[in-house]
Amino acid sequence: MEKVMQNDLSKIADIIARNPKEPGSLIAVLQDIQKEFHYLPCEALMETARVLGVPMSKVFSVSTFYNAFSLTPRGETIVRICQGTACHIKGGKLIQEQIESALNIKAGETTPDMKFTIEIVNCVGACAMAPVIIVNNDYHGNVKCDKVKNYLDGK
Ligand code: FES
Repeated sequence: MEKVMQNDLSKIADIIARNPKEPGSLIAVLQDIQKEFHYLPCEALMETARVLGVPMSKVFSVSTFYNAFSLTPRGETIVRICQGTACHIKGGKLIQEQIESALNIKAGETTPDMKFTIEIVNCVGACAMAPVIIVNNDYHGNVKCDKVKNYLDGK
């Protein structure tokens, strides 16, 4: 796993310090760390456990339980492509290929500049507008192959 630079370690202390130093702050601290780094660096988990007085096993189980947390580096923009049944039937696979080709990575990967990560998800409850992609928190329905670039550019 990629090491966090020394520079960033001071940020970890600042992030933890924004919250009360008690075990009940665990999820809030992890959310803040995830937001800052787009994943949970190992160093941050150890520091969180130490400062909040929470066993490392507990920090680790919370980190792996919630989908919002990632233990591996992810891009600034998470592109989720729905491959549930409705989206698959409506051309979800083609959308996936377009996005993979536009970003030059495969699903599950992150671009070398850490800008984008592609993830495949199952039905996100918006089948009526299939095929669906979610760019960070923005849902896009009835996605057309020739518009994929626009969605990635935030348009
Ligand atoms: S299958 Fe994609 S939103 Fe339901």
